[in-house]
Amino acid sequence: MESLPFFIFFSTLFIQSLHFLSFSADIITPDLPVKDGQTLISVSQSFELGFFSPGTSKYRYVGIWYKKSPETVVWVANRNNPLTDHFGVLTIENRGNLVLLDQMKNIMWSSNSSSIIAGPVAQLLDSGNLVVRDNGSSRNTESYRWQSFDQPSDTLLPGMKLGWNLKTGQERYLITWRSISDPSPGDFTYRLDIHGLPQLFIVVGSVKKVRSGPWNGIFFGGTPKVHNSVFEPILVRNEDEIYYTYRLLNNSVSSRLTLNQSGAVERLVMYGQNSGWTTIYSVPVDTCENYRQCGANGICRTRTSPLCECLKGFKSIPEEELDIQNFYGSRKCETRLTLDCQPGEGFLKLPGVKLPDLLEFRLNESMNLKECEAECFKNCSCSAFATTNLSGGGDGSGCLMWFGNLIDIREQSGSTIGQDIHIRVPASELEMVRSSKRKKMLKTALVVSMSTLLAIFVSGLVLWISWRKIKRKVGMDRRKEGMEAPLFDLDTIATATNNFAPDSIIGAGGFGSVYKGKLLTGQEIAVKKLSMNSGQGVEEFRNEVVLIAKLQHRNLVGLLGSCIHREERMLIYEYMPNKSLDYFIFDHERSALLGWKERFVIILGIARGLLYLHQDSKLQIVHRDLKPSNVLLDSNLIPKISDFGLARISGDDGKETKTRRVIGTYGYMAPEYAIDGKFSVKSDVFSLGVLLLEIISGKKNRGFVHPDHHHNLVGHVSRNNHMERKYVISL
Ligand SMILES: *[C@@H]1O[C@H](CO)[C@@H](O)[C@H](O)[C@H]1NC(C)=O
Ligand SMILES: *[C@@H]1O[C@H](CO)[C@@H](O)[C@H](O)[C@H]1NC(C)=O
Ligand SMILES: *[C@@H]1O[C@H](CO)[C@@H](O)[C@H](O)[C@H]1NC(C)=O
Ligand SMILES: *[C@@H]1O[C@H](CO)[C@@H](O)[C@H](O)[C@H]1NC(C)=O
Ligand SMILES: *[C@@H]1O[C@H](CO)[C@@H](O)[C@H](O)[C@H]1NC(C)=O
Ligand SMILES: *[C@@H]1O[C@H](CO)[C@@H](O)[C@H](O)[C@H]1NC(C)=O
Ligand SMILES: *[C@@H]1O[C@H](CO)[C@@H](O)[C@H](O)[C@H]1NC(C)=O
Repeated sequence: MESLPFFIFFSTLFIQSLHFLSFSADIITPDLPVKDGQTLISVSQSFELGFFSPGTSKYRYVGIWYKKSPETVVWVANRNNPLTDHFGVLTIENRGNLVLLDQMKNIMWSSNSSSIIAGPVAQLLDSGNLVVRDNGSSRNTESYRWQSFDQPSDTLLPGMKLGWNLKTGQERYLITWRSISDPSPGDFTYRLDIHGLPQLFIVVGSVKKVRSGPWNGIFFGGTPKVHNSVFEPILVRNEDEIYYTYRLLNNSVSSRLTLNQSGAVERLVMYGQNSGWTTIYSVPVDTCENYRQCGANGICRTRTSPLCECLKGFKSIPEEELDIQNFYGSRKCETRLTLDCQPGEGFLKLPGVKLPDLLEFRLNESMNLKECEAECFKNCSCSAFATTNLSGGGDGSGCLMWFGNLIDIREQSGSTIGQDIHIRVPASELEMVRSSKRKKMLKTALVVSMSTLLAIFVSGLVLWISWRKIKRKVGMDRRKEGMEAPLFDLDTIATATNNFAPDSIIGAGGFGSVYKGKLLTGQEIAVKKLSMNSGQGVEEFRNEVVLIAKLQHRNLVGLLGSCIHREERMLIYEYMPNKSLDYFIFDHERSALLGWKERFVIILGIARGLLYLHQDSKLQIVHRDLKPSNVLLDSNLIPKISDFGLARISGDDGKETKTRRVIGTYGYMAPEYAIDGKFSVKSDVFSLGVLLLEIISGKKNRGFVHPDHHHNLVGHVSRNNHMERKYVISL
């Protein structure tokens, strides 16, 4: 009889202590450690802390997981230092350090708390945060001496901070697990870049892999905007801290953000009790998310093929010319050609994109869009601008200006909402947009109503005529300034060339025909009309327009303007009555008209023109196709280098560039260019040499025949060079 009450007392005590130790306790004190096999459970049973072995691993780790989903570990203490046996103990030392000890009392992990606490307690909170505090002090966040939220693993729980403490320089970021069975830090990290406006990055080592757009006051640009009642994203920016966090909107729904082992960030939710996790979005969503997918000044679009396109106003380097230097996508779209503002430049709005990375930029959060545009316009190296803060509605506020290359722009679609960016473009691009807008407007107007059709048509016609008059006037003025290549309309050119009459053709090349024409002003012109279906011709057309418009020299042919009509592209030059050099020097009779003195003057002129291209103009240009037929002669026999279709801007250091697309004319190409595709200003000098030999000898390099050998002209000359110095005369 005596033993029964004792038994009851004993077993109650036993059950109570078991209960206390393993199931309901949420605190660790120096007297109450957690041993392998025991766990802490937060007050509302949301999170549990204990020892576990992930996947197929035999090692033991201390971690925190969802009570309702024990396989979902959200934090690991000893990621780098697993226990090899089942005798680990997590305890708090008297002075407040949280430590994990193995069987031999070796410290396997420590919270490294530096401050000494009188009554140290570690507690697992309902948020999933393990905190160390002084039992005596109040229980607010400031009193935490240490917290697991400060050392995230791969998961961001609600209330955790991803970002920077500006006072201490501490950064909190996610690091992926190495594998499902190994929680040690993997290669991927997910972190907040606070250079300018905050942006989120998935990084491997120090290499950016995926980028969100800048924080726009409501969300990170380019991240899928989830219309949900689950969580609210929050960005905190103050003097002490900049961080991203989020809060849950419905207590019966759990949500977490996890950087998984493949380097993807997943937003997961669980509705109600253990019903399994659902991924509501993940990053990256598609190929366009890859950082710099389209290189500098390109835009990535998933809905079109090819994926990458150059931004308006930037010239693409043909695919075949991409060599190893371009492999990383840094130069697929050539940089803008000038650094000084050109007349007529302006901005084009590119709607619905992920804004470019903040590499070279300026931020002013007090400006509005108008002021921003004016500020960007003033500085010629400002390549684009956008607003920074959409939370006020309307156009937004704030001003972000980019300088130099624009990196990592993509078009947004579907659930992701893009932003507008305004990109600096040359006058010609604005002109094209304007004319297509005009067409659209006219179309819209025509379908408005049958009854007003006539009235609209008549007034439209009147407007159109007066607009044309104004445009012509403007065109003339611009031409007088001679600063840029104006656009001619098709009517003007058609009239000038007698409707492209066959008898006005004065030459034909690979890209189309050249017509002679006369403007109403009496000026004679040469019109190079590119054949419509030559895709290559369009590239060369843009190249020529853009390059020549920037070059002014008496030994370069003058471009008067261009004409774009539907698919049709035309270049309009000054007319050269004496045709080209080959017309004279290779013709037995006509060559007699060019004496030594004339030839000498022509050679000097060509050399001056080339020197200008190579060294005296603002850009260093390699012509790549210098030959007699590309040297035109004006009425005074002044030579003019023409045909810039193949010309390239060369690096300012004059170094060699390499291309896989060797184009030019055999017989004039330098051997290293013809064979290896390497070209530089020196390639032009080689061509000049051939040109000189031809001018002096009156013989073509290719097609040269000699009774004694099979060499061409250049071969013949170099063969004789060391034996007979007066080789030229002997010809
Ligand atoms: C504590 O300090 C040790 C030694 O400096 C270091 O190896 C360890 O990573 C630190 N632990 C934590 C949780 O920071
Ligand atoms: C915390 O302090 C209270 C009173 O100040 C005391 O009753 C309690 O035992 C202490 N708990 C621990 C774990 O030190
Ligand atoms: C919270 O989520 C639960 C489960 O999805 C849903 O039944 C409930 O209506 C939600 N409550 C609110 C206020 O949205
Ligand atoms: C990581 O997340 C992505 C996107 O949800 C998914 O396709 C991939 O399978 C996940 N990887 C792992 C290892 O869970
Ligand atoms: C931002 O713009 C405002 C208004 O133009 C100007 O007064 C201010 O000085 C600018 N701030 C900076 C840092 O440039
Ligand atoms: C244009 O802006 C850049 C970058 O802020 C600056 O370095 C440069 O001096 C500015 N140029 C002019 C002319 O204001
Ligand atoms: C963004 O705009 C809103 C509304 O105009 C304003 O309250 C907020 O302070 C702005 N944020 C910043 C960072 O300027």
